[in-house]
Amino acid sequence: APGKFPDEDEAGRLPHQAWDRYPPRKFYRLRVREEKHSFHPHLPEQKIWGYDGMLPGPTFVAWYGEPILVRIENDLPRDHVGFGSPEISTHLHNGHTPSESDGFPGDYYSRDKYGPTLTRAGRFKDHHYPNKLSNSADFPDTDGDPEGALGTLWYHDHRMEFTGPNVYKGLAGFYLVFDSLDTGNERDERPGALRLPSGVGEYDIPLVFQDKSFDSGGYLYFNQFDPEGMVGDKFCVNGKIQPYFSVKRRKYRFRALNGSSLRFYEFYLVHEGVDHSFHHIANDGNLLTAPVLTKRLRLASAERGDIVIDFSKFPLGSKVYLVNRLEHLDGRGPTGRLLTPGTQILRFDVDAEPDSPDLSQVPDILRPLRPAVVPRNTRVRKWEFDRENDLWTVNGRLFDVTKPAAIIKQGVEEVWELQGKGSWSHPVHIHFEEARILTRNGAAPPLHERGRKDVFELRPGETVRILICFEDFTGKYLMHCHNTIHEDHHMMVRFDVVP
Ligand code: C2O
Ligand code: CU
Repeated sequence: APGKFPDEDEAGRLPHQAWDRYPPRKFYRLRVREEKHSFHPHLPEQKIWGYDGMLPGPTFVAWYGEPILVRIENDLPRDHVGFGSPEISTHLHNGHTPSESDGFPGDYYSRDKYGPTLTRAGRFKDHHYPNKLSNSADFPDTDGDPEGALGTLWYHDHRMEFTGPNVYKGLAGFYLVFDSLDTGNERDERPGALRLPSGVGEYDIPLVFQDKSFDSGGYLYFNQFDPEGMVGDKFCVNGKIQPYFSVKRRKYRFRALNGSSLRFYEFYLVHEGVDHSFHHIANDGNLLTAPVLTKRLRLASAERGDIVIDFSKFPLGSKVYLVNRLEHLDGRGPTGRLLTPGTQILRFDVDAEPDSPDLSQVPDILRPLRPAVVPRNTRVRKWEFDRENDLWTVNGRLFDVTKPAAIIKQGVEEVWELQGKGSWSHPVHIHFEEARILTRNGAAPPLHERGRKDVFELRPGETVRILICFEDFTGKYLMHCHNTIHEDHHMMVRFDVVP
């Protein structure tokens, strides 16, 4: 609901560094609270935690160039038992967000408790999201106003040491950003309009994949103290176990998000025992330069992949399955083995003709990018992700919430070398800016990783070199393993961006 929040005399109103540059034009309230949820008709209704009580939370539809303010109220029960923590800190994953609104793990709050990087408790905190394009130099200049390039973002809890259980209990939702070319309107006739399948909730469908475990009574189970983490044996899509979805014989855009603590997926699209291809159009929050026609979609924790499936090639009455084939037994990471036929995660029932002709398309060119070129004398930083004496470390150290491990100059490009040591997989996520992968183990990255990314899958022994530059805002930010168990056990780095 639009409004005008700023003058309430309560905590959570920090000085917003970019307020004057990007004054918010829309105001939202989100209430974080406990609510009843049904994962499956055979399981008891049970309490979950959700933004506005929903699992997943409400989907934001945002526009590049239109700043917003979100007031996030914490109405979680203070006296709860079981896993999770009723203090919260909300992060917009892949948002170009001023530091004070970024949901730093130490910025958690409730009405009577607050984290080490805040100065007081409070029931709510305001988050300023400028929806501003970053690193516009990545894009060939289109009359001085390069286009958005943000797409599928998500928001989730980031409470220090409790991100895993809090997200698992339901604290995650989608945040979609449109721009003047990707308008969410497939009838857009202007030259250059992408006309992808459109209409959030109609032909443009966000899907969050989360594995869960239930105890013998049918209640959600999570072991928040095991530093090795756990994989679940039930597969939820948008909060329901192995559901179905009725589709029409036309194209759909699905925004797949791996919202699991640590499970990786490799999805295939199967009809009558045959694998079918689809278009992979966006990786994480960015459109690829060109669509990739493929038969598989691999997602590490926190990665997103937008795909377009054309159901017109299936006869009316078909059942088409999204199947996961990647074997993943424990916290170590996927085994690498593909199991056939695999697990049916989501069933599409092709049960209607479209009401009107399908005007959507998958254009040959999506979002051109300049080649990533490393300037001379670029500083190289090395980051090693390892397990030492049963602890999760980055460059041999545990997360220090109050002290930066690196001071980084605003607007200066750097090469970061991410190294996976030991025998565990680590999906590494960097806040605030996307990066370009220069090399993966010395070689050019695969086609679907050539866009701008914010999650970098590091398999045991791998080295990923990326080019990154932090613009626009200053302050404390974060890099961490997005295996939420690893991050809760301190596999995080605070870095501060300075003018
Ligand atoms: Cu999706 Cu630091 O997180
Ligand atoms: Cu990890």
